[in-house]
Amino acid sequence: MLLEGKTALITGASSGIGETTAKRIATEGASVLVADVNEEGGRRVVDEITAAGGVATFLRVDVTDADQVDAMVAEVVAKWGRLDLAVNNAGLAEQPGAMHELALDAWNKTIGIDLTGTFLCMRAELRQFVSQGGGVIVNTASGAGLKATPNLTAYSAAKHGVVGLTRTAAIEYITQNIRVNAVAPGTILTPAMQNFGDEQLKEWSALMPTGRLGTTDEVAAGIVWLLSDQASYTTGTVLEIDGGYMQV
Ligand SMILES: NC(=O)c1ccc[n+]([C@@H]2O[C@H](COP(=O)([O-])OP(=O)(O)OC[C@H]3O[C@@H](n4cnc5c(N)ncnc54)[C@H](O)[C@@H]3O)[C@@H](O)[C@H]2O)c1
Repeated sequence: MLLEGKTALITGASSGIGETTAKRIATEGASVLVADVNEEGGRRVVDEITAAGGVATFLRVDVTDADQVDAMVAEVVAKWGRLDLAVNNAGLAEQPGAMHELALDAWNKTIGIDLTGTFLCMRAELRQFVSQGGGVIVNTASGAGLKATPNLTAYSAAKHGVVGLTRTAAIEYITQNIRVNAVAPGTILTPAMQNFGDEQLKEWSALMPTGRLGTTDEVAAGIVWLLSDQASYTTGTVLEIDGGYMQV
């Protein structure tokens, strides 16, 4: 098992990439705190992990609320003694549309959850890591954080920001036994994406060099590897998990 005996938290773990990753973290032997604003989904994920023999607990956390984020880290430490691994994954995108028509509210919401939320989580986790002498962070960025993404202004700006936070923290804390990396998924088949319907999914698949979308398992595998000691010499990297989409 890659993460045996470790303690972990993951935000946005009630569905999609976060759900699959939380389950995989547990399967690899870590105790995991599932954090999300979606209580029903989070409790279901915890029940499924527990039924499969893993160790998990749910906490309702809104990543835009600094007090709730600090309490999330405190909860892991109170329960399991330390925090080894953190996945900052909660995120969403605004409704697509032209930059000159983007409402300030929509901008603020996306930046608040995807960028400020990631910063607040990293700040709380880093405080704990510095005090205990180490730890590992993986942020969920996006291909939209590495290249132009027309009609997704706030999302693209936020995810470019997540890449900046990742690289900066990696170097700032490199001598303190703290690694910080990100994944940049391409278009991944999540429940939310399935709502777009078969025709739209077919269209997106045709744009991919592989001719298909990615799966949450394929993203979770990358996140778990980055969390594990197998990635001990890897920090500040943004792992593209996109079936080659960034190259075309
Ligand atoms: N699905 C894709 O194609 C894709 C591609 C690239 C990057 N991503 C990124 O992957 C991450 C997960 O996305 P997903 O596709 O699994 O979506 P998802 O909607 O299935 O999961 C996102 C989770 O975040 C939670 N969340 C939203 N706002 C929150 C808040 N303020 N505090 C705490 N939790 C909150 C939601 O309740 C949800 O459970 C996101 O950061 C997303 O930007 C997804």
